[in-house]
Amino acid sequence: MQILDFDSKVFLAPMAGITDQPMRRLVSSFGKGVMVSEMVAINALSRKNAKTYKIADVREENYPVVVQLVGNNPQLFADSAIFAEELGAHSIDINMGCPVKKIVSNQSGSYLMKEMSLAAEIIKSVVKATSLKVSVKFRKGWDHQSVNAVEFAQMCEDNGAAYVTVHGRTRSDFYSGEADWDIIAAVKQAVKIPVIGNGDVTTPQKAADMLNHTKADAVMIGRAALGAPWLVSQIHNFLETGVMPEVLPIPLVKETLLTHIKELAAYYGDKLALGLSRKYVCWYCKNLRDARKFRENYVRINDMEAALAEVNRFFDSSAERDE
Ligand SMILES: Cc1cc2nc3c(=O)[nH]c(=O)nc-3n(C[C@H](O)[C@H](O)[C@H](O)COP(=O)(O)O)c2cc1C
Repeated sequence: MQILDFDSKVFLAPMAGITDQPMRRLVSSFGKGVMVSEMVAINALSRKNAKTYKIADVREENYPVVVQLVGNNPQLFADSAIFAEELGAHSIDINMGCPVKKIVSNQSGSYLMKEMSLAAEIIKSVVKATSLKVSVKFRKGWDHQSVNAVEFAQMCEDNGAAYVTVHGRTRSDFYSGEADWDIIAAVKQAVKIPVIGNGDVTTPQKAADMLNHTKADAVMIGRAALGAPWLVSQIHNFLETGVMPEVLPIPLVKETLLTHIKELAAYYGDKLALGLSRKYVCWYCKNLRDARKFRENYVRINDMEAALAEVNRFFDSSAERDE
């Protein structure tokens, strides 16, 4: 089944503080895949908060971006969807899966899995407000005593959602344990709209396994893409051709990390970018030998040129993969 008008059935997961414009640009530069924004808070967006406005503004990107909204007020959701449309969103995703305390205590994210009628009102309100397609991302349930992904998906379908994404963990699991792919299969059986399966897809083979197991229409990749922006397109190509991708050569890892840091600098300015780049350096180097010393050096650097030079020095002198 074709998922809307996307040309791939591999989605980059929305990840706050990660899937910003620099990351999306980089991921899409490797090939096909569907880009989703970080979650955008509707309260802040409707106040035209400058930082939030910037997160929601995808007009400069030359590939479709699904913009994800988070909040709990149906009217503000509708207003924000209209605003996101003006700011270039390809379609709107509603976050009903975030487990983070700050979000849940605001009666948003996965809290809405406990408030089915409010969730329905929100979806209806967004669908009515915008001409864009509207999707919903949620979890298996709030906790193991209240697993309701199937009924929740049916409610989304009944209220006009174009597709749903299911992360096979409950809110109480946060990110621990294994994602339950059976619940994704159960949702797929219960609704007619496309279903995207999410949770623990870390390799091309696992993506194929998830699609086989669940019969989902597409897969969504989150944490495995941290420090591996090439993974989404590798999975896309594998699903299309069956050819397993080669491991990325280390010089290309270096070039990608340098590009990522420079993209961060162009978007956020050197100072902020330098701080943000520290976590990426750790992720890009996680399987490289002698990376610990490099990471220790890198986090002490306070100057962009020195940071780029340190990346070059490490990769040109000693970078090898751990056996
Ligand atoms: C750092 C981080 C930030 C996240 N931010 C969001 C978010 O903004 N919106 C959302 O719906 N899910 C968010 N998630 C959840 C992911 O989209 C995804 O559902 C989860 O990581 C499971 O997929 P994975 O096993 O492929 O990582 C976040 C996850 C991580 C690790």
